[in-house]
Amino acid sequence: MCGIFGYVGFRPAARILLNGLRKLEYRGYDSAGLAVIDTIGSTQAVLHRIRAKGKLHNLEHRVTAHFPPATVGISHTRWATHGKAEEHNAHPHLDYTGRVAVIQNGIVENYRLLRQQLQAAGVVFASDTDTEVIPHLIRHWLNQGYDLLPAVQATVNQLEGSFALAVISADHPQEVIAARHHAPLAIGYGQGESFLASDVCAFLDVTNRALVLENGELARLTPAGVEIFTFAGQPVKRTPMVLDWNPVMVEKQGYRHFMLKEIYEQPATLRAGLVDRIQPGSPQLVNLGLRDHLFTQTRQIHIVGCGTSWHAALVGKFLLEQWAQIPTQVHYASEYRYSPPPPQPGSLLIGVTQSGETADTLAALHLGQQRGDYLLGITNRRESSVGRLVHECLDLRAGVEIGVAATKTFTAQLLAFYLLSLEFCQHRQTMPLEYREAIVQGLQQLPALMEGILESQARAIEELAHRYTDTRDFIYLGRGINYPIALEGALKLKEISYIHAEGYPAGEMKHGPIALLDRHVPVVAIAVPGGVYEKVLSNAQEAKARDAQLVGVVAADDYSATEIFDICLPVPTVPEILSPFVTVMPLQLLAYAVAALKGLDVDQPRNLAKSVTVE
Ligand code: G6P
Repeated sequence: MCGIFGYVGFRPAARILLNGLRKLEYRGYDSAGLAVIDTIGSTQAVLHRIRAKGKLHNLEHRVTAHFPPATVGISHTRWATHGKAEEHNAHPHLDYTGRVAVIQNGIVENYRLLRQQLQAAGVVFASDTDTEVIPHLIRHWLNQGYDLLPAVQATVNQLEGSFALAVISADHPQEVIAARHHAPLAIGYGQGESFLASDVCAFLDVTNRALVLENGELARLTPAGVEIFTFAGQPVKRTPMVLDWNPVMVEKQGYRHFMLKEIYEQPATLRAGLVDRIQPGSPQLVNLGLRDHLFTQTRQIHIVGCGTSWHAALVGKFLLEQWAQIPTQVHYASEYRYSPPPPQPGSLLIGVTQSGETADTLAALHLGQQRGDYLLGITNRRESSVGRLVHECLDLRAGVEIGVAATKTFTAQLLAFYLLSLEFCQHRQTMPLEYREAIVQGLQQLPALMEGILESQARAIEELAHRYTDTRDFIYLGRGINYPIALEGALKLKEISYIHAEGYPAGEMKHGPIALLDRHVPVVAIAVPGGVYEKVLSNAQEAKARDAQLVGVVAADDYSATEIFDICLPVPTVPEILSPFVTVMPLQLLAYAVAALKGLDVDQPRNLAKSVTVE
């Protein structure tokens, strides 16, 4: 939530800052701004700030060729929390002298009190944000004779909440000071230059040497290098890691949108997720590299997640209970914190999160840690806060996902739950060997089948989308293991096309949503062969009897489906238990096609952010 980027070096900062912000725009795009320190052409260094409401290109237009060629600066892309998305609330915020600039990602929870104290001392505020207290507090400490680093240190010790921030001062023109407290912040190490960003992706095109700041740490970036300190002022020694991601991963590579590219990457992501995890020569043996403790000591499982990750968790629950026979509950991370289940020995708490930075999921895991739960993270970002908190981490290996609507990380999360459940079955012997072998083989065949869907369906779904550009409501139905897929299909559509869509367990439709149905409401039913097939068909018939337009996600060889459904979205026939991988794809494609046809900003839908680092 909000992206921050900083630079210290020898090149013109403004272009570098804008380039960094472009990679972070997925984190928020209500407004953007940057500030640099101009040391050229005047005896005293001058701080220049420039901000613009709306998307980043509005800011880019304002940064003209005449902009000072400064070599130190900070920048921000905002997702509004306190104060409307207006230019005066955009970051950076300045102190009352205009010589200190601050950017922040997070929430300063005690800002009201601090603001009142500052106002009582005569400070006039220029914004409605929580962040603006920070530059004024820093100014207070500078006025007491503190140097910049100690002034920021004194200030962060006055703040409550979770935040990552960066500071520049015209009176300290060769440095950027950064601080982290429960919001992500990484440092990139270049040659004679250093970078600071909410996400390592933002500087991946210049350096792959990075260090993630820990909570309670400050960093001082100068052209000579980086120094790290605790909030108490103790120096910290740490070596940067070398990332194995490359900059091409964050390019569109010819696709119109990142989301489409990421939908098409799913077969490759699944292959990457399987590699090394099936024991060669023993095709039924899964080895995720997790400690035995997890498999032998677990008596019950709780899973926490948000959004799409929560949907993957529902599929996970199905497998962990039906295959591995382990009682499992799925919680919205934001609810778990305030109504956790009673603590029980042998509890495994799984946090499933693409970004590893979602504040609610992180907080739920912290609670689990305090209660003595064993913690497993399922994430695409090993280096994230979740990746570093948990006892065990299962890497999604999906590569960078830029589109705000998650696609490839969803199917990668599904795979993680399938493999985890299979490994539990191995340990507990809850599944016959031949069946396990068949499932593993089935998983290995999925990437090719998914490629087949993309080849045969993408075009037809693009055509189909024309019918729905003016549709106001959709209902998605699924049962059993495809119930979470109905939820995910509905979420994808509403996130990016702004069409209202509700996912429902097919059998529940008659207890409420059926009242909404008429010929204007398409009902998308997932009706693939298996234990609930006939039941879903009956539920679909109930909708048809109310004049709803019926769209069926059906098996390609189900020739009778055309008699029931007005429109069929065929998928390859696979065992029902594996079907979520194939049933979700036409739903992703449909959501994409409708939103793209409506000319909407598919990768950055309004009001959303990819990574929500506030509660
Ligand atoms: C945001 C995104 C969703 C995502 C959710 C959870 O709301 O817009 O697409 O599913 O966060 O994110 P996580 O990184 O924890 O999986």
